[in-house]
Amino acid sequence: MAKKSSTSWENVEGWYSGLVGDDGHYYHQSIILPSVLRLLNISEKSAVSVLDLGCGQGVLARVLPKNAEYWGVDASKSLIQRARQHTKHPQAHWIVADTSELLPVEKKDFDCAAFILSLQNMEEPERAIQQARRHLKKGGKLLIVLNHPCFRIPRQSSWGIDEKSQLQYRRINRYMTEMKIPIQMRPSQDSSDSVTYSFHHSLSDFFRFLQNNHFAVISMEEWCSDKTSEGAKAKMENLARREIPLFLAIMARAE
Ligand SMILES: C[S@@+](CC[C@H](N)C(=O)[O-])C[C@H]1O[C@@H](n2cnc3c(N)ncnc32)[C@H](O)[C@@H]1O
Repeated sequence: MAKKSSTSWENVEGWYSGLVGDDGHYYHQSIILPSVLRLLNISEKSAVSVLDLGCGQGVLARVLPKNAEYWGVDASKSLIQRARQHTKHPQAHWIVADTSELLPVEKKDFDCAAFILSLQNMEEPERAIQQARRHLKKGGKLLIVLNHPCFRIPRQSSWGIDEKSQLQYRRINRYMTEMKIPIQMRPSQDSSDSVTYSFHHSLSDFFRFLQNNHFAVISMEEWCSDKTSEGAKAKMENLARREIPLFLAIMARAE
């Protein structure tokens, strides 16, 4: 039985499952999952093997072609149970484990590994990247999808409006310092039961973690919201949406 990680989302499983639903939340469906398939070059014909670290309720497994082999790892037992119940994929395997420890997965030649919005919820991201390297074949791809660490830092970034130019700007208070930031997931309930943590690192930290673990970064993409506003502030809000990305995707190759 896996040791329970303090950063597991076990305590917010019901809330997170409601938010994500069976097919993923709005941004999973509109931006993240299609881009993950494109970047990892996964199509109906691919017989790839994929290791999904911090897989939650397994949204990635549900968009993979049937001939792909999928292993989902998460520290939350209930999220893995839910993933198992709701995923029909014939080659899906589910593991409850902390990604900062040696993973109980024998396979060491995965074609791809992914952290989808999960690495920033892990207290030891470098150790998790080390586990990804242990299980990838040489030349295998690692894809990391993050809430953009330059623009979306919980409690340290916010929108402001410059009245003179009528432009919306992004204010960043702190960026270079590593931070452990508590997040109240159900703001209406003031309970420590519904707290998760976000661990902030700069881009240079992430690149160092990759380099230390024998990964070469091969590409980077920044994804903006595809939503649009209407009404009095539409012009300003839509411009800000197009200029300030929500997500950062880093692709690296195992050397
Ligand atoms: C924001 S959720 C993302 C889940 C999924 N990838 C998605 O896109 O829906 C972050 C996940 O990371 C998992 N997690 C946090 N720390 C972990 C750790 N040390 N080992 C394994 N999973 C962890 C949490 O349990 C949670 O399911």
